[in-house]
Amino acid sequence: MSSLILTVGERLEETHDVTSWRLLPAAGATLPPVQAGQCITVHCELDGEPVSRAYTLSSAPQDPYWQITIKEVGRVSAHLRQHLQVGDSLTVNGPFGEFVARQGRAPLLLSAGSGITPMWAMARTALAQDANADIRFIHSARSEQDVIFARDLSELALQHPGFRLVTVLEQSAPEHPWQGRLSAGMLRELAPDLLSRDVYLCGPAPYMAAVAAMLAELGLPAEQLLLESFGQPEPAAEVSSEAHFWFDLAKRGKRVKILPGQTLLAAAEAAGESIPFACRVGVCGACKVTVFGEVECQSTVSLTSAEIAAGVVLACACTARSDIRAEL
Ligand SMILES: Cc1cc2nc3c(=O)[nH]c(=O)nc-3n(C[C@H](O)[C@H](O)[C@H](O)COP(=O)(O)OP(=O)(O)OC[C@H]3O[C@@H](n4cnc5c(N)ncnc54)[C@H](O)[C@@H]3O)c2cc1C
Ligand code: FES
Repeated sequence: MSSLILTVGERLEETHDVTSWRLLPAAGATLPPVQAGQCITVHCELDGEPVSRAYTLSSAPQDPYWQITIKEVGRVSAHLRQHLQVGDSLTVNGPFGEFVARQGRAPLLLSAGSGITPMWAMARTALAQDANADIRFIHSARSEQDVIFARDLSELALQHPGFRLVTVLEQSAPEHPWQGRLSAGMLRELAPDLLSRDVYLCGPAPYMAAVAAMLAELGLPAEQLLLESFGQPEPAAEVSSEAHFWFDLAKRGKRVKILPGQTLLAAAEAAGESIPFACRVGVCGACKVTVFGEVECQSTVSLTSAEIAAGVVLACACTARSDIRAEL
């Protein structure tokens, strides 16, 4: 997929550590079609090294711009918050991703922190299509100051009675009715009809794991749960373990150990070898690599059938089942 060069038309400070940018196409050009909930990859240069990260579009498809909303947590997000200003150009790819609204059941949107971005896009899109849409939205944040899009969310809830919004604040907040961490009891009370809904879940890994377990305990069928992970650190692998395969990086003349269950990307990085990546969760296609040997793919979302037939895999979502060789 070819890259797009967009221009920053507007920069909005959302909270003390979250910023949005509205990105515009060149004069006379149009933005590719997008579905609410999809993401793009953003490319930039850090200390002379090209780096990429995935960001969900917080804009809705009907907006004349693409908006990204980024929480400062590490290298690239801090760089963008420090440097990306109105008038600057930004190279992106996309849109990608299958975390999009399904037809049929009414949605229950569950998010925490920056995981609100796909929910905001989905809620606005659904309400633009049907002003009376039945949407339950439970968003968790550390404090009132950390609720991204707080004012816009309240306005949307005032305009659309079918949009039932609740924020759960982790830190104590006088007079706020829902405090602490989201619990199964809160879910039961705030969304008594949750079993009849499709549930969309996005947020930090521990939040997602806890909420997915609660939903299962409450009886939600697995096929009614849609998840979007923003990535998480992979568990450190014990590379000295006896049980390993060999992973040849043919073009580099390197051979590294890869453990059962370890992704090709993690194995290469553990040995000091880099493979280009952006999302690390098998969505964007930035880490495509041709592999020979027996592998297991956890995602093939951004691969064509011709690529799959030719042995192309996503290094961030592929594990080895034998010794393997890659065109790297
Ligand atoms: C499909 C997809 C969509 C995404 N959409 C968004 C989005 O809309 N807004 C957004 O802010 N980020 C989003 N991310 C996360 C984003 O791609 C980067 O991982 C994030 O900005 C951290 O990159 P960094 O270089 O700043 O931090 P790094 O230096 O790469 O990592 C710093 C640490 O922060 C952790 N981390 C990563 N993302 C988050 C997060 N969102 N909150 C808290 N800790 C985090 C990492 O696990 C790591 O331990 C998305 C990721 C994916 C895969
Ligand atoms: S880094 Fe996005 S698919 Fe692997």
